Amino acid sequence: MQSIQNPSLLSFLCEPSEQSLAVTNPATDEVIGHIPTQSKAEIEAAIERSHEAQGYWKKRIAKERAAVLKRWFQLIMDNQQDLARIMTLEQGKPLTEAMGEVAYGASFVEWFAEEAKRVYGDVIPAPMSDRRLATIKQPIGVTAAITPWNFPIAMITRKAAPALAAGCSMIAKPANLTPLSAYAVAELAYQAGIPRDLLTLVVNASSSMVGEVFCSHPKIRKLSFTGSTQVGRLLLAQCANDIKRTSMELGGNAPFIVFDDADIDKAVQGAVASKFRNAGQTCVCANRFYVQDSVYETFVDKFVAAVKALKVGNGLDDGVVIGPVIEQKAKESIEHIIAHAKQEGATVACGDTQQSGLFVSPTVLTEVRQDMDIVQQEIFGPVAPIIRFNSDEELIDMANDTIYGLASYFYSRDIGRIWKVAEALEYGMVGVNEGVISTEVAPFGGVKQSGLGREGAKQGIDEFLDVKYLCFGGL
Ligand code: SIN
Repeated sequence: MQSIQNPSLLSFLCEPSEQSLAVTNPATDEVIGHIPTQSKAEIEAAIERSHEAQGYWKKRIAKERAAVLKRWFQLIMDNQQDLARIMTLEQGKPLTEAMGEVAYGASFVEWFAEEAKRVYGDVIPAPMSDRRLATIKQPIGVTAAITPWNFPIAMITRKAAPALAAGCSMIAKPANLTPLSAYAVAELAYQAGIPRDLLTLVVNASSSMVGEVFCSHPKIRKLSFTGSTQVGRLLLAQCANDIKRTSMELGGNAPFIVFDDADIDKAVQGAVASKFRNAGQTCVCANRFYVQDSVYETFVDKFVAAVKALKVGNGLDDGVVIGPVIEQKAKESIEHIIAHAKQEGATVACGDTQQSGLFVSPTVLTEVRQDMDIVQQEIFGPVAPIIRFNSDEELIDMANDTIYGLASYFYSRDIGRIWKVAEALEYGMVGVNEGVISTEVAPFGGVKQSGLGREGAKQGIDEFLDVKYLCFGGL
């Protein structure tokens, strides 16, 4: 692959064969590499080895696990440029965004290296004088992860780092569309001293086969998934048989609200960042905009001007801020959503022009109404529908009128309104006067059909720990 300084990052690449998976650059449609796939029997054998490796790893003291994770963090940062380049080549996001994702991914490794040493239990005041009560936290065991193509490194590290810090092992399936970044970052984990059997990646052309093995294998005690609500539901049902623990980071339908007292320039800046990051392909992207009547025209004019300035193209080219979408199916779905919204009465304020390949022009739709289908769909593309609203009460009802509850955003300068709205929004995350809020130090996750559990933050490691209650009697 062109211009990769550290060839060890790609040592897993293989020659094309019936058992290999081809990876394509969405910006050019060229095949950029092949990786070996694993059969069902090979995945089951890897789970057995993972179980054995976890038996040793859980006995290492937290300080030792932390030291290995810190080395992994450092190696990721030392290879930031190469990893970013690989990511842009297979995922399409602009190089500066890919550099940002590598640092974001590494931040979870550093954070959980530190958290490994802070897995505390409790001493509980006993209700009887001859007893003493305590709790300890222990690693769950072998864990599995299924990660998406939109953040090919950060979603691996956000799951693997807390698992390893807690003393678990992990077997992970990266997305078939973007496995190279995940394999490259795992390669650095091995160089840092993490045993291959402790963190294992597997792929197969049949993602559903891998999912079924993860959900049904008795040695896997936990599944952590990031992806669509539809697939999440299926995996939850499959995990029910074994009563496996799960973390689910699923779809979103984030409202982005601009109140009449907002700083409009800041709101426009936040709206562009929130909507168009990764060409609109994130679960936390602003999905629908609500703008209060009296500032509607001002906001729309400034927002449209900012969107028209966004450069679309190959993520490796200078100045590009919007890369291609991931595949043809995605492009068709976005085009269909725009066409249908137009049929229902939306007006195109900018964009919606024909683009070649997998490129989609950033599009703003105005005069959108709450009853249109676009308001209930996760767009996953660079399209911003704008809805007018009048009162705060009406707005809260509209913003909460969705099965999803991941991220939400609003702009206001009135402290009373800020508290009331932040409390009323039925979402796991609320950005107040900020359009991009993800960080390793804060809990990421949703309510309603956006998922279960939290990633990152002090809560993230608990997802990989069991609480054990100890009762000391007869004292
Ligand atoms: C996602 O879209 O799934 C993750 C986005 C983030 O971590 O900011």
